[in-house]
Amino acid sequence: MQKLLIANWKLNPLTLPEAIRLGRAEDKKGVVISPPFPFVGAVGKALRYAALGAQDAFWESPPAGGGPYTGEVSPAMLKKLGVRYVILGHSERRRWLGETDKMINRKVRAAMAAGLKVILCVGEPKEVRRRGIGRAMAYVKNQLRADLKGARGSLVIAYEPIWAIGTGKPDNPKETVEIARFIKRFVRPRPRVLYGGSVTSRNTKNFLQYKDIDGALVGGASLKAVEFKKIITITKKLQ
Ligand code: PGA
Repeated sequence: MQKLLIANWKLNPLTLPEAIRLGRAEDKKGVVISPPFPFVGAVGKALRYAALGAQDAFWESPPAGGGPYTGEVSPAMLKKLGVRYVILGHSERRRWLGETDKMINRKVRAAMAAGLKVILCVGEPKEVRRRGIGRAMAYVKNQLRADLKGARGSLVIAYEPIWAIGTGKPDNPKETVEIARFIKRFVRPRPRVLYGGSVTSRNTKNFLQYKDIDGALVGGASLKAVEFKKIITITKKLQ
């Protein structure tokens, strides 16, 4: 199966021209580009090969498209803009926006009902991992159970240990692959499992060489076109 690379731009870049430039530079098959909301429509129009992603979506998706939810964006709106994938449950949203598993579960079901492919992020904090990989698996299992309750639709899991995100300290790939295999045994139907957390061109191969790691969710390194293109090239060689 083709490996998948998700470019998660988070709250970057500042302007639309920069966003379009970056999107064009990263516009390759097997890539999902996830700009911040203000740029989603325009970046989507600029892409020819990459798929368009969003970094979040609300849990209500009124069929008529609207509702009294100030500041929110519905899965149906995103779908109409050409978005195919939506990242849900990212640890930064769990932390800064107080998203709970219950909220994430509602979002997962609404996004799937609207026909979006969900990239669900799960991963344990440092104090859990310190106590061993078994504890990390149990933590992830609880997240998966809660976040996916009653969910039916297209699903990709991004395993992202919280302590590895944006720290320059990626996971140990030998342990990542064990957790990826564990996720594939636990979730039915078997999803694709990506790794995320300080992925760069220097460590891409260490993770993606494993058949059970189906790609990567890339934050910081996806903001540098040259660096991200190197990650794409390395990934292509592995499949
Ligand atoms: P990072 O972010 O690549 O900057 O660590 C990963 C992520 O957003 O999940």
